[in-house]
Amino acid sequence: MPKIVIAIDGFSSCGKSTTAKQVAARMGYAYIDTGAMYRSVSLYFLQNHIALTNPKAVQDALPHIHITFNFNPKTGRNETCLNGLNVEEEIRKMYISNIVSEVSAIPEVRYAMVAQQQKLGRKRGVVMDGRDIGTKVFPDAELKIFMTADPVIRAQRRQIELLQKGEMIGLDVILENLKKRDFIDSNRSEGPLRKAEDAIELDTSYLTLDEQIDWVIQQADEKISKLHRKGHFKPIDA
Ligand code: DC
Repeated sequence: MPKIVIAIDGFSSCGKSTTAKQVAARMGYAYIDTGAMYRSVSLYFLQNHIALTNPKAVQDALPHIHITFNFNPKTGRNETCLNGLNVEEEIRKMYISNIVSEVSAIPEVRYAMVAQQQKLGRKRGVVMDGRDIGTKVFPDAELKIFMTADPVIRAQRRQIELLQKGEMIGLDVILENLKKRDFIDSNRSEGPLRKAEDAIELDTSYLTLDEQIDWVIQQADEKISKLHRKGHFKPIDA
């Protein structure tokens, strides 16, 4: 059966990555966490004292940033590596969340990441989550989902996630960070967070994770059958 691209965009902490990961596993697709790529760039900039306001320093640093997703047999998951080092845990911390929207608003950073993401998905058979997947990275994605959820519910989910990793942060601080990120993500000049015209919206506020996953898989199955019937599949690039 030919494979499609599933683009999942939306606000922070709507459950995009958890859903995307499970959908990919159940469909035998690759999962690409594009937020992890911007988080890794942020970590690199911090570690190497790259000033975000210095375009030349940013431009010079980008070719030195190599991000890969490597399978870890111990956890059974793909984990983000920055220049060969596993940064999966580090990039989820609050100090990275605090700067990642500013980093990902820099056009040069976006051009570099979008090019890598397009390469990773060129053979299709991927579930990619982010902010601009359906609008910029894969405007021709066969299935586009735009996730939303109540901001307080999103902040509560994020708080639980951070607690499980040993970071205790107040709900108001998390809510503030989410709102700030939503604002910056939606208002930047390059690749702003937008619902693609042909995306289907999913409000996850009162859905369980299993319900979200089942819903996406159902949409994907319907899409694949429809495209198959119409003979619409594009040849896969070599
Ligand atoms: O999905 P996340 O919260 O891990 O993403 C971290 C940040 O990266 C988010 O605040 C916006 C940015 N991002 C982006 O600009 N474009 C993407 N495709 C993915 C994430």
